Order: sequence, then structure tokens, then C-alpha cells
Amino acid sequence: MARLVLRDFDIRKAYLDSTEQTGLVEVLRPVLKSAPLFRPVTPSGKEMSVRMTSAGSLGWVTDRAGYRYQSQHPKGVSWPSIPEPILAVWRDLASAERDPDCCLINYYGEDARMGLHQDKDEADFSWPVLSISLGDDALFRIGNNTRGGKTESIWLNSGDVVIMGGPARLTYHGVDRIRFGSSKLLPKSGRINLTLRVAS
Ligand code: SIN
Ligand code: MN
Repeated sequence: MARLVLRDFDIRKAYLDSTEQTGLVEVLRPVLKSAPLFRPVTPSGKEMSVRMTSAGSLGWVTDRAGYRYQSQHPKGVSWPSIPEPILAVWRDLASAERDPDCCLINYYGEDARMGLHQDKDEADFSWPVLSISLGDDALFRIGNNTRGGKTESIWLNSGDVVIMGGPARLTYHGVDRIRFGSSKLLPKSGRINLTLRVAS
């Protein structure tokens, strides 16, 4: 495992080996079954290109009513709990004191991307956001604490974990594109990104 710091983003390359990655995909299967991926709409009415769901006591959603955390999937059921092997990554790298209350699950298909944004719907920014990459490679872009300015990019591979905390907590970040089919982890290719958050 190599450690790399880019604009205060703490990047653990290959934190998860291939057995651990397969294990996470396995524990995500029942989660995705009870809380299926859906295509979110931004408050302005634009469909996002990623598909999304959550695990935990809170899930992040967006629709015409705005960005927010809520206790239920749009289909009206509680989110499933966050599987233990995912919590183990948080406890190792983020905090052994408090578990996250949200694991946002984003699925990137062939043309999916995520524009530069800040994660700022959480109550307390002293907690980091921890991101786990599974599946196809993604070109991750890091900006600044305000919109605009120069950016830097790095390819995230399956098994990489990024800790966005401290001075990086409110830094703009996004995903320009994925290299569809670059990983054999997911049967239909694509990329799953998990972000663990203390939301409340
Ligand atoms: C996010 O910012 O919520 C996702 C980042 C990623 O997909 O790597
Ligand atoms: Mn984000």
C-alpha cells in the first residue's frame, strides 16, 4: 500500500487487496437488492449520470426538493445497515470512536461522471469523508475550497481509499470519467464508489 497526499487528500493506493475488494462487492449485493440504485435528479431538474443508493441510518438524496440526508430510500423503506467490512475500513482509517451514519453508494456506468462539488450537507465538517473505489479506474479531479482555480487529477483504481478530511474536507472534487471495462471486479464493469460520512 502506497500513501500519497495531493492537496491534503490522503490517498491510500491499493489499501484493499483483490480478496477484500471481492468481499466488499459480496456484502453490497444484498444492500443493493433491498435499496436498489436509482437515478437522482438535481434540484434544477437535471438527471445525474451516476446511479445512487445508500446504507446506514441516513442516506443522501437529491430531487426537485433539494439535496439532503433522509432516513428512507425513495421507495419508502429504511436504508439497510452498513456492512461490517465497510465499517472496518472507516474504523481503521477515519475513527474508532464514531461510526458513519451514511454510506453513499454511487455506481458509474460507461458515461457517468460527477462534476466538481463540495460535500457540505453534513452537520459537522470536523469528520472526514472516506471514499472507497471498486471496479473500473476513475479520473478524480481535485480543485480548491472555492469554485474555480487550477485543479489536479489522479487516477483512482479499485481498492484505493481516499480520506477527505481536515483542510481537504471542503475542497471541490469530482470524477471526469471512468475507463469502462478496465477492471474485472464487477460482472458488468463500471465503478462503485462508497463514501462514508458522519451526516448528523
Ligand atoms: C463523491 O464525491 O461523492 C464521489 C467521489 C468518487 O466517486 O470518487
Ligand atoms: Mn463528494
